[in-house]
Amino acid sequence: MSDLANVGVVGMAVMGSNLARNLAHHGFKVAIFNRTASRTDAVMAQHGDEGTFLPSHTIEDFVASIERPRSIILMVKAGPGTDATIEQLLPHLDEGDIIMDGGNSYFRDTIRREKELADKGFHFVGAGISGGEYGALTGPSIMPGGSPESYKVLGPMLEAISAHVGDDPCCAWMGPDGAGHFVKMIHNGIEYSDMQVIGEAWMLLRGAGFSNAEAADIFAEWNTGDLDSYLIEITSDVLRQKDPRTGKDLVEVIKDRALMKGTGTWTVQTALDLGVPVNGIAEAVFARAESSHDDLRAAAQDTLQGPDGTVTVDDRQSFVDDVRKALWCAKVVSYSQGFDQIRTAGQEYGWDINVADAAKIWRDGCIIRAKLLERIRQEYDAKPDLVSFMAAPSVAPELGRDQDAWRRVVSVAAQSGVAAPVFSATLAYYDLARAPRVNAALTQGLRDFFGSHTYERIDAPGSWHLNWSGDRSESEA
Ligand code: 6PG
Repeated sequence: MSDLANVGVVGMAVMGSNLARNLAHHGFKVAIFNRTASRTDAVMAQHGDEGTFLPSHTIEDFVASIERPRSIILMVKAGPGTDATIEQLLPHLDEGDIIMDGGNSYFRDTIRREKELADKGFHFVGAGISGGEYGALTGPSIMPGGSPESYKVLGPMLEAISAHVGDDPCCAWMGPDGAGHFVKMIHNGIEYSDMQVIGEAWMLLRGAGFSNAEAADIFAEWNTGDLDSYLIEITSDVLRQKDPRTGKDLVEVIKDRALMKGTGTWTVQTALDLGVPVNGIAEAVFARAESSHDDLRAAAQDTLQGPDGTVTVDDRQSFVDDVRKALWCAKVVSYSQGFDQIRTAGQEYGWDINVADAAKIWRDGCIIRAKLLERIRQEYDAKPDLVSFMAAPSVAPELGRDQDAWRRVVSVAAQSGVAAPVFSATLAYYDLARAPRVNAALTQGLRDFFGSHTYERIDAPGSWHLNWSGDRSESEA
């Protein structure tokens, strides 16, 4: 048997070393390399006995220690660092070798890199990996793109180390070039809206006088039903946690400024390019931006008036039920928007993504894992060209059943001064989508009035213009 490694991992920060350990735990021989050699040595000292690792201090030795065709996984900070690492590797590679980028790279960079490397005779696989540090070690959700040939080599290894639902791995080929990183980007966009709407529910409960410990119990209870998900589960943990320094609830001493690394922003930018309305995700990104806009908040706190966020509640249990239902509806709509974006991008970018597969591999291992994903998988499996998950036959009646509660929650939030941008944006999306007539007719009239932009008629084909400044006769444009 060869002494060479089955796979190499570059980048021994926590995600990279945990992924390398996960591979080793599954019986793969893993070459490891880090720009700073001491980090490689530290991984060997702490974890070297967990499997077969082949550590190297130079990139040449690292590449030479891997069997051909080589599979090399980059776990380096996304951005220029990825290009620099690829440049270092290239002179030492042989035709047919595979470089997989497991970072949160922008999918357009992945498209570029895939083309550049394919032209040189190599495979480049952009793979989204979700699950955080713990997931990388114990079983993440993995979303690879790239050539089908590269998946034949990498797929079995990635499927082995991924999370599983029964026998199903939470890893599947998403499509050519940037498809894997695109799907991961949407995962993160949904992650933003999921967290924002959980936060809005918490602020409503808080406003109604529930303590953080009580809210933690409520979230734990919700986690036993339709809302069952990792993010709801850890919300209870975070709300229950005491600050080790002061003994107060930790969440009360954390600054209320949410940061972000950019994947949510890319989701919204790309949605705008594709013309896919994802207002739940967009509001979540904007809410983070507003939370950390210190000057704006200081100016507004000094000047703007309104209710103070206290929510007056007659029946606490019905209020809690309403918030749960609103959370369910907003979550369904946010996921629906994200999946719409995947479906549309699959068509627009020629990726032909199997949307049901994306739902399937998010059922475990990733940050947005949730009971809901099995339903999404089933709906897209039954109808791969499903236009909108929220309008699916099994889903629409449930939204219909809970929409009264959703409306009450949005209006209570508005009346109480509790900002609930995702609760309300998703409701507006729902109402816009289902309304037989929307205000766009007037918009078109106005556009034609001031700029001769024309309008379509409900009773005749073609584009029409009214002579607004003259005799107001109509002509075909
Ligand atoms: C995951 C996470 C992971 C990371 C986010 C955080 O799927 O494991 O999404 O990729 O936690 O990138 O993103 P922000 O810093 O933008 O919140």
